[in-house]
Amino acid sequence: MQILFVCLGNICRSPMAEGLFRHVAESRDLKVVVDSAGTSGWHVGDAPDPRGQATMRAHGIDTSAQHARQVNEEDFNKFDLVLAMDRRNHDSLTRLAGPGRASKVRLFLEFAPGRGDTEVPDPYYGGEDGFEHVSRYCITPARGWPTTFSATNNCAPPHRVRRRAMVGMNIVQLIEPQTAGF
Ligand code: 4NP
Repeated sequence: MQILFVCLGNICRSPMAEGLFRHVAESRDLKVVVDSAGTSGWHVGDAPDPRGQATMRAHGIDTSAQHARQVNEEDFNKFDLVLAMDRRNHDSLTRLAGPGRASKVRLFLEFAPGRGDTEVPDPYYGGEDGFEHVSRYCITPARGWPTTFSATNNCAPPHRVRRRAMVGMNIVQLIEPQTAGF
């Protein structure tokens, strides 16, 4: 299975998701490929935003070697799922994919039912805490993954995470149900 995470600049939200999901895949020895890209070409070649790198480093994940790139036509052939962080990017991707491949384009938070949000907020113009906030949005999709993602037509709801239990906890530990006390 191959999954592409997409935001606008590919320096804030999607590189964090890429780093986290790759970490999970490696730690569980899963045969999956993850990548990220931006719908814009504004930051092509740039490393992830230093605030996002710092946030992920605090969770034990190194994203410093990742570099921004722009989504291209071939991505819709290569990847099984193209997951957009918000509606604006979802709409851009759907247009780019064309009718034959638009079904591969989904909102990332479709895989976090019960949260009540459909979009991961853009932290670019905010403070450092916005990046920690983004990392928290990744927890529910990551906990159910890859089961939920591989059954996209029959998307079983992943475990819900109690918000109170999340405060001060490491995101990598939080996606492991036993660690979070479930
Ligand atoms: P991202 O955040 O889409 O999560 O990478 C942004 C990064 C850069 C810009 C906007 C959003 N920008 O305007 O340059």
